[in-house]
Amino acid sequence: MTDFISFPTDFTWGVASSAYQVEGAWNEDGKGPSIWDTFSHHPGKTYHGDTGDVAIDHYHRWKEDIQVMKSLGLKTYRFSISWSRILPDGLPSHINQQGLDFYNRLVDELLANSIQPLPTLFHYDLPQALQDQGGFSLRETACRFGDYAGIVARKLGDRVSKWLTINEPMVFAANGHLSGEHAPGLKDIQVAISVVHYQLLGHGLAVQAIRSAAGCPISVGIALNLTSIVPASSSQEDLEAARIIDCMQNRATLDPIFLGKYPDDLMGLVGLLLPPMEQGDLKIISTPIDFLGINYYSRAVIKSEPGVPFIELAPIRPQGSSYSQMWEIYPRGIYDLLIRLHCDYHPPQILVTENGMPVADDLDFDVKVRDVRGIQYMQDHLIQVRNAIDAGVPVTGYLVWSLMDNFEWAFGYRMRFGLVYVDLDNLQRVVKMSGEWYRRVISGNGFSPKTFYIEPDL
Ligand code: FCB
Repeated sequence: MTDFISFPTDFTWGVASSAYQVEGAWNEDGKGPSIWDTFSHHPGKTYHGDTGDVAIDHYHRWKEDIQVMKSLGLKTYRFSISWSRILPDGLPSHINQQGLDFYNRLVDELLANSIQPLPTLFHYDLPQALQDQGGFSLRETACRFGDYAGIVARKLGDRVSKWLTINEPMVFAANGHLSGEHAPGLKDIQVAISVVHYQLLGHGLAVQAIRSAAGCPISVGIALNLTSIVPASSSQEDLEAARIIDCMQNRATLDPIFLGKYPDDLMGLVGLLLPPMEQGDLKIISTPIDFLGINYYSRAVIKSEPGVPFIELAPIRPQGSSYSQMWEIYPRGIYDLLIRLHCDYHPPQILVTENGMPVADDLDFDVKVRDVRGIQYMQDHLIQVRNAIDAGVPVTGYLVWSLMDNFEWAFGYRMRFGLVYVDLDNLQRVVKMSGEWYRRVISGNGFSPKTFYIEPDL
């Protein structure tokens, strides 16, 4: 008999999504365009030219979708609010009431079904009008984000007790402004670095604005894409390469938020490219938060690679590991990361705001989706989360990315991360085997580990 892995009684189980990836209705009811509308409409930017124009039509099917959540027994639903649905041109002078009403109804319906709403205020989809002025490379955009946060919190703060400001500021900066794979599609290191700083400033301003607007005790955090970094060998060069990536991917956001300063080695690398800082910026950025959200998918194994411009390093794919369509599968990494965060930064609470894997699944003849690799992935990561809790890390919950298959940015609809399959022809929802498994985990507050998937021995 295998031991039952149980979780603390107040542990929250949920799922995550984001506005552009699920809502559709890109130009309905007064919504202004976002940079993702512009980017995806540009030929060649996404797989197959896919767009989020309709996405999975959550904007119209939200009630039905909440019933799916209820059937799974979810305790928390993390979604994001589309800034340009609320403020079509990004500015507080023009509020689109229909946009606010949508999220207002969504929150009421979630609560009526005993699901805690967890909104993220910014998940990559900046209003195009703000991008036209320079987007998050400007200080003004950080201030506009603070205004927007206050407007939303004044409307929903009487019922929403937990908030996330920004999703993955590093990914937004790097993929959108350095590699150009994401909106707005820029390739400019100086802009990318400004975008990191001003998002963090916007985060701090938003924490303050949400707290003062809510009018009741609330909990505010940020969702960071963090990972455990491993050198490819014990050579001095690889150790150095791993330190640089840790600095850029983890400490560049953690240090200013928790320690009120940028890491010295980051300043050495890119300090000259930072935008002019004003006195008080770092104090605002380090406004204490109530919890840290972590999005964990994989580790990064790094080796020195002198040919690579500027950073002189590269990630490698370790042999013998198993992989999803996107990344190495490395459950132990979430344990290492949680322990490290607890020791180095002591966040009061940690919530796993995203974890999951894409599975190339489809409906079988009996209209079932047997995505056993996805179950194995969640189970193996949850065991590591449980181990971290045992070691004293205050992990308060786990949210699967994602509730339903959806628009996976530049990959379009090719990657299926959902617990619920979405038929892209008719948008019908079918709970996958992983969804059924998750339902049982939630109702039992744990599981007995099983082997769902063994890598074929070729
Ligand atoms: C994260 C994003 C989320 C989704 C998952 C797979 O980095 O926050 O929107 O794309 O990856």
